[in-house]
Amino acid sequence: MTPAPPTRSLGKVGGIDRVFVVGAGIMGRGIAAQAALAGYPVDLADVRRELADAGAEGARALLRDGAARGRWTEAAAADAAARLRAVDGLGAAEEADLVIEAAPEQLDVKRRLFAELERRARTTAILATNTSSLPIREIGRELRSSDRLLGLHFFNPVLRMPLVELIRGASTRPDVAAAARRFAEGLGKTVVESNDTPGFVTTRALGVLLNEAVEMLESGVATRDDIDAAYRLGFHHPMGPFELADLVGLDTALAILDVLYDGFHDPKYRARPLLRSMVAAGKLGRKSGEGFYRYPASPPGSGEGKAA
Ligand SMILES: NC(=O)c1ccc[n+]([C@@H]2O[C@H](COP(=O)([O-])OP(=O)(O)OC[C@H]3O[C@@H](n4cnc5c(N)ncnc54)[C@H](O)[C@@H]3O)[C@@H](O)[C@H]2O)c1
Repeated sequence: MTPAPPTRSLGKVGGIDRVFVVGAGIMGRGIAAQAALAGYPVDLADVRRELADAGAEGARALLRDGAARGRWTEAAAADAAARLRAVDGLGAAEEADLVIEAAPEQLDVKRRLFAELERRARTTAILATNTSSLPIREIGRELRSSDRLLGLHFFNPVLRMPLVELIRGASTRPDVAAAARRFAEGLGKTVVESNDTPGFVTTRALGVLLNEAVEMLESGVATRDDIDAAYRLGFHHPMGPFELADLVGLDTALAILDVLYDGFHDPKYRARPLLRSMVAAGKLGRKSGEGFYRYPASPPGSGEGKAA
C-alpha cells in the first residue's frame, strides 16, 4: 500500500485558542489528535463519558503510533496527548472558539446537536461539521446563527490524509470561512472548497466508486480480493474499495449513499442490497471487527488490525 504523504502541523491560528470535538468515533478521535498535535487544547465529547474516554485514549494511541513510525517525536506526541481532555456532555462548548461535530451521518442527530451547541457556545465561536455528505444549509436550517456554521470535511485516517474539504452554507460568513481555512491549513492540510451540494466533491466520487465495486461483487464479476487488487494496482489507489469501505465504516458508507440518492434521485447512487444487508447484520467494517474483511481485535484508535 502506498503511504499517503505525511501532514505537517504548522501550529495554532490566532483567534482559535480551544477546540471542542463532538463525537469521539473514528473521525472525532483523529481530528482531536491532529488539533492537539498543532498545539490546541482539545475537549472531546460523546453520548456517554466512557465513549469520550475511549475516544481520547484512541487519539493518544494514534499520537503514540505516529511517533513510533517517526512521523513526529515522542515528546510531541506526549505534549499533544496532554492537551486532550475527555468531557461529559456539551458544556465544553462554552470555552471553545471552534466546535467540530463528528457525530453519525444523520441529519436529525446533527440538527439536534447544533441546536444545543449554538445555545451553549460563545457567539464568536465557529461551528463546523465533519459531515461527508449532508448539505450545510440543511444541517443549519433551524439555527439562528447559521452564518457561523460551515463544513470542514476531514479524511480518514485524519493524521495521514492531507485534504480538508471546506463547504460554505448559504449564509456562512466570509470571515468564518477564512478562519476555518487558516485553522485547517495550520494543521498541515490542503483545503479545497466545494459548493453546498450533497456529497460535495469527494463523497460523490466515493459513492459511485464504492457502489460499482459492490455491484460487481454481487453479480460475480470478480472476487473481493481481485476487485480490491484491480483498483489498487490498476489505478494506483492506496487501497481497494472494500478495504476503503471497511475503513470508512459500512454504516457511514450506506448513510452517505442514501443522502446522495435522496439529493439527486440518480440510480447510480442507490445503495446496493449487499451493503444494506451487511449493515443490518452489524458488519460495519473495522470498527465492528468485520465488514468485507475480518479484523482481529486491535488497540483502540490504532485502525491497524490486519484484514483477512
Ligand atoms: N469514517 C470516515 O471515513 C469518515 C470520513 C470523513 C467524514 N466522516 C463523517 O464524520 C462523521 C463521523 O463519522 P465516524 O466515521 O467518525 O463515525 P463513528 O460511528 O466512528 O463515530 C461517531 C461517534 O459519534 C457518537 N455520537 C452519536 N451521537 C452523538 C451525539 N448526539 N453527541 C455526541 N456524539 C455522538 C457515537 O457514539 C460515536 O462515537 C460523520 O458525519 C461521517 O460522515 C466519516
